[in-house]
Amino acid sequence: MTGIKDAKCVLVIGATAGIGRALALAIHDLDSKPTVIAAGRRQERLDELAAKSDRIKTARVDINATHDKLKQFVDDVVAKYPDVDAVVFSSGIQHIFDFTKPETVDVSKITDEFNTNYVAIVNLILLFLPHFLKLNAEGRPSFIIPITSALAISPKPDVLNYCATKAAVHSFSISLRAQLLHTKVRVVEILPPLVESELHDHQGTTPVLSKFWMPLDEYTKHTIEGLVRGDPEVAVGLSAAVLEKYEKGKREAVEQAYVRETPVFIPS
Ligand SMILES: NC(=O)c1ccc[n+]([C@@H]2O[C@H](COP(=O)([O-])OP(=O)(O)OC[C@H]3O[C@@H](n4cnc5c(N)ncnc54)[C@H](OP(=O)(O)O)[C@@H]3O)[C@@H](O)[C@H]2O)c1
Repeated sequence: MTGIKDAKCVLVIGATAGIGRALALAIHDLDSKPTVIAAGRRQERLDELAAKSDRIKTARVDINATHDKLKQFVDDVVAKYPDVDAVVFSSGIQHIFDFTKPETVDVSKITDEFNTNYVAIVNLILLFLPHFLKLNAEGRPSFIIPITSALAISPKPDVLNYCATKAAVHSFSISLRAQLLHTKVRVVEILPPLVESELHDHQGTTPVLSKFWMPLDEYTKHTIEGLVRGDPEVAVGLSAAVLEKYEKGKREAVEQAYVRETPVFIPS
């Protein structure tokens, strides 16, 4: 099965912390020795990664940007690294909102969260696809790897907008995979459970959540195994459980219905 071991050059957006940083380093360590391009906003963290290996390159980007700026970023990456054949979308933010106190809800944060977690990712996928379809025409595989969440399937009400952004990317990924079925462009969705990272630091909830989260090393090990196997959905721990409970057969049913041009029907 085609998996991340077949990628030559992997861009990891959101590689300056948490899951993205750990995956960037684990992908770098694969026997296939891919080049890894680490991307994010914090230059000092990109520099720290680049100092680790000649095969780790960096690209500074804020993805909460206009389509034109994202296009410039993608054009630059493809021009500098024409072998780029995989993108991991690990960038993400999360905000707590209390809609029982509407006056406390900052609408600009809702927009930022939706742009960062959904709109920018759809834009970037759209911008990378011409390059990936060109690789496909040359017989080469490529990988679009969005990171969603167990919360895409089973929402947590205090982070309601975050869950909606992840549900949007989850749905988009299922449909995109179906559209690209006849190509070598693989859509691989990573659905983490609660994992050790910096995601919750600004909310002040890290001390509580750290009692329940999966250690980053353990999570990364299982996720890399799924990526190497070529699983279409890489779910570990609680994520695997919610996927099994609420979505069993959904992806396959959507793909079959799309190929047959019939409405989706999931037998109970
Ligand atoms: N940790 C969990 O429990 C958990 C569970 C389910 C899903 N996830 C998802 O996993 C992914 C990784 O999260 P994490 O937990 O590893 O969080 P993290 O430690 O906070 O890392 C988030 C990364 O996103 C980058 N980022 C944020 N906004 C960005 C922007 N506008 N432009 C470019 N990069 C941006 C950050 O880099 P800069 O600040 O340097 O830009 C950082 O590298 C996210 O999509 C998150 O939603 C996490």
